[in-house]
Amino acid sequence: MLLYNNLSVTPQGHLAVGGVDTVDLARQFGAPLYVVDEDQLRANCRTYVQALAEAMPQGSMPLFAGKALCFKGLYPILKEEGMGADVVSPGEIYTALAGGFPPERLYFHGNNKTDEDIAYALDSGVGCFIVDNPQELDRLDEAAGARGIRQRVLLRVTPGIDPHTLQAINTGRIDCQFGVPIETGQAAQFVAAALGKEHLEVEGFHSHIGSQIFEAEPFCDAVDILLDFAQAMRTAHGFVARTLNLGGGFGVRYVESDPMVDIPGNIRALAQHLKQGCAAKDYPVPRILLEPGRSIVANAGLTLYEVGGVKTIEGYRSYVTVNGGMTDNPRYALYQSPYTVLPASRMGEEGDFLCSLAGRCCESGDLVQENITLPQPRRGDLLAVLTTGAYNFSMASNYNRLCRPALVLVRGGQARLAVRRQTFQDLVACDL
Ligand code: LLP
Repeated sequence: MLLYNNLSVTPQGHLAVGGVDTVDLARQFGAPLYVVDEDQLRANCRTYVQALAEAMPQGSMPLFAGKALCFKGLYPILKEEGMGADVVSPGEIYTALAGGFPPERLYFHGNNKTDEDIAYALDSGVGCFIVDNPQELDRLDEAAGARGIRQRVLLRVTPGIDPHTLQAINTGRIDCQFGVPIETGQAAQFVAAALGKEHLEVEGFHSHIGSQIFEAEPFCDAVDILLDFAQAMRTAHGFVARTLNLGGGFGVRYVESDPMVDIPGNIRALAQHLKQGCAAKDYPVPRILLEPGRSIVANAGLTLYEVGGVKTIEGYRSYVTVNGGMTDNPRYALYQSPYTVLPASRMGEEGDFLCSLAGRCCESGDLVQENITLPQPRRGDLLAVLTTGAYNFSMASNYNRLCRPALVLVRGGQARLAVRRQTFQDLVACDL
């Protein structure tokens, strides 16, 4: 049915996910509720692990980008599935380690790692730093030296590609605060500086060109630019990159009209392109790292809300209010991101009521979606917003002192609580 094959409808007309009735879930765990289908998540991990193993050189690996979703119970799953992980803060490192994730499989990002962040990551045994800028090189070299270690690093460079995506989440262009641009010649200086550091072992390069990208082409373009750059660095310094990290960015389907994404196909196309590019330059084929976030978790998640009521503004439109909103999913407010909304407790009924879904914050921008159709809503109805596994839980806030929802994992017809709902005590826990 609609978008996903892990959704079904029970004989009572309830939406079920991973074989679990969403009405039962809301009854047991309350709403709003984040629901993550563990089998779907694992299947998404396997798609990447297998496609990279089949098409790319040995040692190639997907690193899950924790910025898309991060909680302790996720990391044992990622570990079991053979994933590495991209972490962007000491908080993400802490969460991964608390979940038993091996530190050597962590890749530490960030365009402003503080001295404390660097110390914490080194002392945690993080496998690899993705160094963003020359100042970080100096600080990291010093800190690694003080610990008597040699730290593996990748250098983040910007290839200057516009993958035609949302401006706000496009990080591959030259004019951006991440990485060092190739085109201006600064990346070459960055490499020279890095190779001169006694306590850093430069493994290769990193680039992230953007997010919600549906085809392989922009990644192939990035490979071309990175290989030209790698070739120039070999000529200049005799340095050969063993690793290219191409970042994250494969898109997902939020609504039926979004295109299908063939991840294994894209990875195969990318592998072929890489091998041809290397052959043409007589360059040893580097291992490939990818950093998928959205495409691992988005379609594994959905959010359940309870309807509070309907307010029709005569001559304008009808608002259906739900008991969550921009605090648990700020993506419509921020990016007008489309979502698919289902009447989870009344799946069998005709949806002919045109409305906008409003959250409960004191802010007119607090909308979950506009111009959707539902069966004439009633207080107490359960709604499901699909594809909320990425950048919802991780971007949630306590605006208006709303408690963050719980997160449950469903698998094999069973649900288990992975993150409990916040309480009022949690809200004041840091207040002195
Ligand atoms: N690696 C790096 C260096 C990144 O900056 C990102 C995302 C990823 C990997 C993961 O990209 P993905 O596979 O998830 O597209 N808050 C926005 C998304 C921001 C993405 C930022 N970087 C949203 O809700 O759409």
